[in-house]
Amino acid sequence: MGNRRKRTVIAGNWKMNMTPAQAKELVSQIYSKVKGRKACDIVVCVPFVDIPVVASMVKGSIIKVGAQNVHYEKSGAFTGEISADMLKECGVQYVIVGHSERRQYFGETDKTVNLRTLAALEAGLRVIVCVGETLADRESDITREVVARQTKLALENVTAEQMKNVIIAYEPVWAIGTGKTATNEQANEVCGIIRQVVADKYGKVLAKSTVIQYGGSMNAKNAEGLLSMNHIDGGLIGGASLKPDDFAAIVLAAQE
Ligand code: 13P
Repeated sequence: MGNRRKRTVIAGNWKMNMTPAQAKELVSQIYSKVKGRKACDIVVCVPFVDIPVVASMVKGSIIKVGAQNVHYEKSGAFTGEISADMLKECGVQYVIVGHSERRQYFGETDKTVNLRTLAALEAGLRVIVCVGETLADRESDITREVVARQTKLALENVTAEQMKNVIIAYEPVWAIGTGKTATNEQANEVCGIIRQVVADKYGKVLAKSTVIQYGGSMNAKNAEGLLSMNHIDGGLIGGASLKPDDFAAIVLAAQE
């Protein structure tokens, strides 16, 4: 990835797909296609029940395991929830927080996104914080305000040291699972706004090294263009991450 100046992270978000047996098969196919590629970080964010099998398969390899959510309390009477320590002990290194599907269907708010982020960072996990505007926001021309606000609130009380373990994924809600991708310029513009929010809070140096991903119908065809933009340091990939050839092609595009 000679012409990129910093770390690139390609993460697959499998969402609610793949039983443990299917996960085993998918990871072995992905691994066979990406092994030997070192220039970008590769993460698969899998359903909780797939974590043990995937973690044991990728241990010590270039593929890292991520979860798709985490609770903000350390333990206790929170039926159905999973703590950051539980994830850590199972070999998880990354966790997605505040995905728009969590915000849309499961009552996730900017406040709970912030609490989850803090709990995960405290446990030593890397966090992929998702932000993004809806179609109505974009049509009302408030994308900048919405994304800046979500970013600021997610990062409340996050220290500069902890910020080194935070990735921000810009995922316009209208582009998720729709086949509609933001143009390279649209995506880059909003990733630039996010970087400015980080710079205002943590300074330019940290903002420059912060990984900002684009997510929303990224695929084998459009990845190279998106990843060539100066503010886009990786991708958070849904549908295409379930197809080994497509996911590997995106990893390859990140190295070009
Ligand atoms: P798609 O790539 O399927 O649009 O999903 C994007 C996403 O939500 C990743 O978190």
